[in-house]
Amino acid sequence: MSERETPSADGLVIGILGGTGDQGRGLARRFALAGQPVIIGSRICERAEAAALQIGHGVRGLANRDTAREAGLVIAAVPWEGHAELLSGLADELAGKIVVDCVNPLGFDQRGAYALPVAEGSAAQQAAALLPGSRVVAAFHHVSAVLLLDPEVDAIDLDVLVLGDDRETTDLVQALAARIPGVRGIYAGRLRNCGQIEALTANLVSINRRYKAHAGLRITDI
Ligand SMILES: NC(=O)c1ccc[n+]([C@@H]2O[C@H](COP(=O)([O-])OP(=O)(O)OC[C@H]3O[C@@H](n4cnc5c(N)ncnc54)[C@H](OP(=O)(O)O)[C@@H]3O)[C@@H](O)[C@H]2O)c1
Repeated sequence: MSERETPSADGLVIGILGGTGDQGRGLARRFALAGQPVIIGSRICERAEAAALQIGHGVRGLANRDTAREAGLVIAAVPWEGHAELLSGLADELAGKIVVDCVNPLGFDQRGAYALPVAEGSAAQQAAALLPGSRVVAAFHHVSAVLLLDPEVDAIDLDVLVLGDDRETTDLVQALAARIPGVRGIYAGRLRNCGQIEALTANLVSINRRYKAHAGLRITDI
């Protein structure tokens, strides 16, 4: 396969950087249940191995660098604070790959969550700037890790908004999102419009706190 060829979702190995966290483990679990090969990445290989063992379903655990090397599509699921440093250090391994960014640059204080200013416009745009050899897509910002991880939840009532500058790549990520029962992947524009998608998560956090919920989004008339 040439570097710019878009892989098929079938059998696509999904690697998750920072996959030991709630979001990474939740996505790993759901994609593994959907039949995708999944690798969890960590700064410490043993931590990834332990998380993978705990999830089961054939999930493997590796260091972040090996995860980036071995996976066909890589999800960045690290806190905003570590985003730039991690991705810039893996630019070579991620070249030619699809990188899905789900990072929400948020701050928290006594009044709750709020969106942090990002010089590049959004975390996803920062990823695209740091990874010139990769195709960056933004998705999974609003999915609740609690629901992803809950074994009692069979289907998640949610539209995953997918943003990117290359149609084949956003189509692929939409198709992957739809492999999680209950979820639709909806194209939501180019990366330059990702800032408000990431920022909207602060509103969802407020909704969740007020209503004791794990709120998601649905787009109507589609
Ligand atoms: N939690 C959610 O419901 C949710 C939903 C949507 C989107 N997100 C986004 O997904 C990302 C991960 O969320 P999370 O709740 O899973 O976060 P988290 O548990 O705080 O962090 C995830 C993993 O990132 C690694 N990590 C921590 N600090 C790091 C640093 N400075 N540099 C590199 N790696 C670091 C850690 O793994 P190792 O120590 O094993 O390396 C950690 O287990 C966030 O950007 C968040 O905005 C979260």
